[in-house]
Amino acid sequence: MNNVAQDTSYPFVLNRVGEAAGAEILGVDLSQPFDDDLRDAIVRALVANHILVFRDQDLTSEQQMAMTERFGTLERHLLHDVKGHETPQVHVIANVDENNNPIKRTYGSFHWHTDKSYHEIPSFATFLHARELPPDGGQTEFANMHLAYETLDDATKKQIEGLKAIHSWEANRRNTGSKPATPEEIKLRPPVVHPLVRTHPDNGRKALYIGIHTDCIEGMDREEGIALLKRLYDHATERRFVYPHSWRLGDLVMWDNRSLLHRVLHNYDMSQHRRVMHRSVVIGTRPE
Ligand code: SIN
Repeated sequence: MNNVAQDTSYPFVLNRVGEAAGAEILGVDLSQPFDDDLRDAIVRALVANHILVFRDQDLTSEQQMAMTERFGTLERHLLHDVKGHETPQVHVIANVDENNNPIKRTYGSFHWHTDKSYHEIPSFATFLHARELPPDGGQTEFANMHLAYETLDDATKKQIEGLKAIHSWEANRRNTGSKPATPEEIKLRPPVVHPLVRTHPDNGRKALYIGIHTDCIEGMDREEGIALLKRLYDHATERRFVYPHSWRLGDLVMWDNRSLLHRVLHNYDMSQHRRVMHRSVVIGTRPE
C-alpha cells in the first residue's frame, strides 16, 4: 500500500498496511496484562482488518499463553513441537533438527488453508510470534475470503448457496502430497461438514470457507465437487485478495481464521537459515 492509512478510533496506533487486509498496531505490549477495554478494542480492530501485526513484541511462552487466553479458549495441539516437548498450547514451528541446526522441511502450511477447518469447531484466532527469521523470505500470505466471496459472479453465488464441503485430515494429507493418514489418524480426526459460505458472527459478512483441508462437496458427484472447489480456490487466492506479511523480528501477528486463508512461503534456503515461530490459537464457533 502506498499511503498508510491511520485509524484514530482505537486506543492505540493502528495503520492499515494492506489493500486486501491487515493493520499494524503500535504501542501495545502484549507481554503485560491488559484490561477488557483494550482486549475488546483489539477484537474490534481484528474483525475490521482480519490481520493485526503487533510490532516489537517479546513474549515468553507463558506470557504468550496468558495473552492468548484473554481472547478465548486455548486450542490444544495434538502434535508435539519439533523437539518432542509436549507444549499443548504454545508450540514451536521451526525448521531445526535436534541440535538446533536449520534443516529443509515440508509443511502442510505451504498450502492455502484456514486453521483446523477439519474440526467441528475450528480455530477463531491464531497468534504467531517471530523469534528467529531468515534474512529474506518466509513471508506468511493471507487471502481475504470476504472479498473472494463478494467478487464472485451472481451465477456462482447462486450455484454455491446452501452447499456444504467435507473437510478432513485425510484430505489434507492427500491434497498436500504428504504420506497418507493412518487409520488411527482418521479415527482421531473424522471428516466434518461445513457450509461452503460462512457468515462471520461479528461483522455479518459472508466468506468462502475452503482451503487445502477440503475433500469434496456433500451430495455432489465427487469429481464435479472437486472441480468446483478448485475453481473457488483459484479465484479466492488471486493476488488482489492477498496481503503478504514480510516478518520483522518481534512481530506478533494475530489473524482471524473466519475471514482468511493463509500459507507460508518456502522461498528461502531452509538448510541455511532458521525460521522459528511460536504459535498459539483460540477456538471459535461452529461455522454457519
Ligand atoms: C500456520 O500455517 O499456522 C503457520 C504459518 C507460518 O509459519 O507462517
